[in-house]
This record gives sequence, C-alpha cells and structure tokens, in this order.
Amino acid sequence: MQGSGKGRPDVCGIVAYIGSKPALPILMEGLKRLEYRGYDSAGLALINGGLRVVRSVGRVSVLEEKVRKEKDLHGTLGIAHTRWATHGVPSDSNAHPHRDDLRPRGHGIAIIHNGIIENYASLRTWLEEQGHTFTSDTDTEVLCMLISELYDKASGMTLERAVQAALREVTGAYAIAVICEEEPDVLVCARKGSPLMIGVGQGEYIVASDGNAIVAHTTQAFALEDYQVARLSRDGFRTTTLDDVHVTPRIQDLEIELQEIELGEHEHFMLKEIFEQPNALRNTLRGRTDSREGRVVLGGIAEYARDLVKARRFILLGQGTALHAAMIGDYLLEDLAKIPAEVEYSSEFRYRNPIIEDGSVVIAVSQSGETADTLAALSEASDRGALTLGIVNVVGSSIARGTDAGVYLRVGPEIGVASTKAFLGQVTALTLLALFIGRRRFLSADQVSQYLAELEATPDRIEKILAQSDAIRDVTARYIDRENWLFLGRGHNYPVALEGALKLKEISYIHAEGMPAAEMKHGPIALINDGMPCVFVATRNSQYDKIVTNIQQVRSRGGRVIAVATEGDKAIRQHADEVFYVPDMPEPMQPLVTAVPLQLLAYHAAVLRGHDVDKPRNLAKSVTVE
Ligand code: M6R
Repeated sequence: MQGSGKGRPDVCGIVAYIGSKPALPILMEGLKRLEYRGYDSAGLALINGGLRVVRSVGRVSVLEEKVRKEKDLHGTLGIAHTRWATHGVPSDSNAHPHRDDLRPRGHGIAIIHNGIIENYASLRTWLEEQGHTFTSDTDTEVLCMLISELYDKASGMTLERAVQAALREVTGAYAIAVICEEEPDVLVCARKGSPLMIGVGQGEYIVASDGNAIVAHTTQAFALEDYQVARLSRDGFRTTTLDDVHVTPRIQDLEIELQEIELGEHEHFMLKEIFEQPNALRNTLRGRTDSREGRVVLGGIAEYARDLVKARRFILLGQGTALHAAMIGDYLLEDLAKIPAEVEYSSEFRYRNPIIEDGSVVIAVSQSGETADTLAALSEASDRGALTLGIVNVVGSSIARGTDAGVYLRVGPEIGVASTKAFLGQVTALTLLALFIGRRRFLSADQVSQYLAELEATPDRIEKILAQSDAIRDVTARYIDRENWLFLGRGHNYPVALEGALKLKEISYIHAEGMPAAEMKHGPIALINDGMPCVFVATRNSQYDKIVTNIQQVRSRGGRVIAVATEGDKAIRQHADEVFYVPDMPEPMQPLVTAVPLQLLAYHAAVLRGHDVDKPRNLAKSVTVE
C-alpha cells in the first residue's frame, strides 16, 4: 500500500491481444473472465489487413453469436471491451470499440476505454469544427477522433505519439487500448486512474483490466502506472510517460490461481465464495496470529505501529458491504483498542469538508480497491494530512497503492457481484488491526491470546454453519413470495443486519431494510403486517434480553420471526418461527458467524426466484464511477 493511484476510473472491462495466435478466441475468453465486473454491452475489433469492429448490446454471449455470423474475422491483433454505460444509453452504437471516421479522412483507428473524459464536450465541438462526424454519444469516441486528428505517420506522429499527444489534452480518467490499420503490428495502451495490467508472454502481450483475463496465458505481468503509455509489438515493448520519457516497469508474478476464478463444481460464484470462507479466513489469519504469545503480526502496518497507538481518532470509510465491515471495525477499534472511531460513507465524507485533526487515521475498506468514492475520499483525507490505511483484497489496486500502509485480506479473487468472503475477510482484518493496536494500549497478552484463539477457531465454526445450507434454503422457500423483509440486530450485530438486507435486495430484488432492532419502534414497526418476515440476529450477548423484547414486539403484530441464535439456545424457539443456529463467539467477533446464514438466505432466495445470482441487474462488481 504504497505509491500513488488516485483517480476516478470507470467500471468496464478491457482485454487486448498482440502476438502470433488468433486473437479472437483469446479476446472472447478474456471478455467472459471479465463479465463479473458488470456491463451492459460488449464489442471487439481486429486488424487483419483492414479494421473490423463487431459490437452488441447485452451479454457477451450475444456478441459471440454475432461474431459467429461474421465471415473471415481473423487477426493476431485485437481489442475487446465490456461497457457499463455512463455517457449514452446501452446500445450497439455506444458500445466499444469506437473507431475514427471512414477513409479517406480516417486511419482505421479503434479504441476501447474505461473511465470518463471530463472535457469531452469541448473537444467534441472542436473536432466537429475540424470536420469529424460522430456516431455515438460517448466520450470515448471523442478520444478516438482526437487521436485520429493528431495521427500523421509520415511526419513521425505515430500511433504511440498521437496517443501521448491526445492524452496530454484530456482531463479525467482512462485506461485505453488502441489499434490502427496503418500500424498493424502495434498495440498502444495507457492509463490514468483506471487499472490496466499488461501480461507478458513469449512474443505476445495480453492487456486487461485485471489479472483474471491474463492468468490463463501468462503469470508474468506489470501494472501500468498513471500517465504511462505502453507500445506493444511482437518484438517487444516500451513504456513511456505522456512526454515520451522512457520508464521501466516492474514485471511481477500474478498471484492468481486459475481454479480460483473458475466455477468448478459450484453452480454460482457466490455459493462457491460463501463455501470458500473457512479457507479464505485461514489465509487472512495465516502468519498473523501468535496466540501463545498474544501477539498480532501485521507486516503491512508495522512501520506505523507508533502512529497507530498514538492515534486520536479513526475514520473508517467504505461503500456497500465494505461500509458494513467498516461499521463493525468502528465497534472493534473502540472496544478493543479504546480509540474513538467513526464510520462514514466515502461518498459523503468526500463532499462534506471533513475535519482532519492531528492524529487522525483514515481507514479505507474495499474489496476491489478501485471504488471511486472511496478513492476520492482517501485522496481528500490524505491531502488534509491524515495517515491512511487500506483494508483491501485486490493486491496492487489503486487503494492499496494510494494508502500509506494497510492489511491485505488474502481471501482470493471474488467474482460474484454480491460480496461475501471479502466481507468476512474485511471483518477479520479489522479485528486483527484492533487487537494489534489494543495489545499496545490496554489489552494484556492473555486477553489477546484468548481473542486470537477464538479467531483461529472461526473457520471451523463457519464450516458448521455452511452444513446447514439446505435447511436455510427450506426456510427461505417458505417466505419466498414475501416482497418486504426486515433485518434487525443490535451492537456488533447491527451492521450484520444491514448486510443481510443488502445481500437479499441486491440479488433477489426483494425489498429489505436493515436497522438497529431498537429503532424499529420509532417508525418501521408500522410496516409489520401478518406474515412479514423479520430476521433477527439474536445471539447470546450483552443485549440478548433486549432483542428478545424486540422480537416479541414484532410477533405480537403478526410478523414472522427468523432468528440467528447461539447454538444451545433452546429458549429462543419459543419466540421465533425459524431458527438458524451459529456457534458461540465472544461478542466483538460474533459478526464473523452471524453474517453467514444471512448470506445463504440471500443466495437461496435469488436462486428460488430464478435470478442471475452472479450478475444481478444494474450492478457492477467494482463501482468505479461516482
Ligand atoms: O470493492 P468494494 O469493496 O470497494 O465495493 C464496495 C461496494 O460496491 C460493494 O461492497 C457492493 O455493495 C457489493 N455489491 C455488495 O455485495
């Protein structure tokens, strides 16, 4: 979690290839590997003598069908893209790649782009004055025309130079890959703000938004940095700044196993990832806990241990599921490290002129490490002098690189749009962070030892919950026709209630609200009618009696109660219609088990309703627009 990487990227997926193999199957496979990122249209372009472009709104399978009908679509150089609409509706003409004007004015240039060109409107007006004709509403087509306008191979304005020059004129964020009919042996890429990886093979290169589309071909790769341009040819590559100063990238091993991004015997990535949680957490914990000595080892923040111990205030930021993990982190840091903490949506923090005093530490929580709101909030915090930490899954992502220090989740790639194993990884990493600081403040070695022993036992405990998956499906089936659900919890389990509601709504499209159980009587209780499912996280802890009272308030109004309770709590049966049991845990760590049955409930609800669990409507895996 070093270096820069701030920016405002976009969601879409990029894949590009240059080498000696047919590019088409490589591009199609790459697009499928990037489908999880979320998109509404797809397209590709190949150069084989001339430039050919095929685009379509809808799934990659629709594009595949369209490609099948095309004659003689060959070539060993090509670019492909999945688009998530920002400028202009999802349509064939707004889909990428975009190309420049037809000859004689154009040069057969095609581009794919992630990000947003902010000054596209003024550039478009100027380009129209120069005689260019636009066929889409996109900012990307503007960038393509600008490159084309500047391109003049005869006078040395090659594709690489024209891309550098065009990017010096634009403001905004981009990851791009560009090809040109007049230079059939060159692929040019560039980045600012939006991630772009370049896989280095034998006489071939595969460019992609993330390593998932590269790893089947090569494990050697480098990440392009902001304001860098790469010129790739079959003979080699060079990377430069926008001003053509040569830079040397660091080629590294991609730490992704192919089986981690394949479904295997599972029906959906979400289910696979829910079931991977025990092993994922073993990885999060590996080498970081010394329960005999009561010590937490976190290499990524060791250098800042003194600053953290002396911190005056923690501000935790995130969006969606990451925000819920951050809320649990807030409780943990106050409980275990005894330092004031607060939590906020990154999107709100950024725009409310936040006060950052001496000793403020800002913690960004994110699976992807690319969430635009969180990136922007971090940049604001860092400009105001805060020490910044990242609790991030994707190694080398923008948040990981834009923070001073941090803790990686190590839960492996998360493909399902609904975040599950990353959530537990985030909560585990935050627990470790709280214990790391707590041990240096008020916690004894003995206390930390006990907590660590509990953490180490968590993966086995989660396995016991996973074994109830079928029973959870049967319960879910009984309420599957209900359109409104409530999720309620208290204390550390209040964010779990929020997370349970978010999981249900995002994949099953059932309306669900999460809230602190005590809040219900201040308004939401009016919603409760006969048979309304209300999920209570009602484990044995300091607020157990209070939550039982809240359960009774629901039941007496006809609501049906589904309780997540502690194993052995027979008494809860007299208050609840359904019970999911979880193993006992110390109160601060209960979310690590109580969240799991709610993930399974949401998963089964979506399957029972026949929805595309891994690609829910309107959603993208990584939300990289504001
Ligand atoms: O990559 P991040 O963790 O920063 O993403 C944050 C949210 O977009 C993400 O958690 C989203 O809410 C998920 N769809 C939840 O399942």
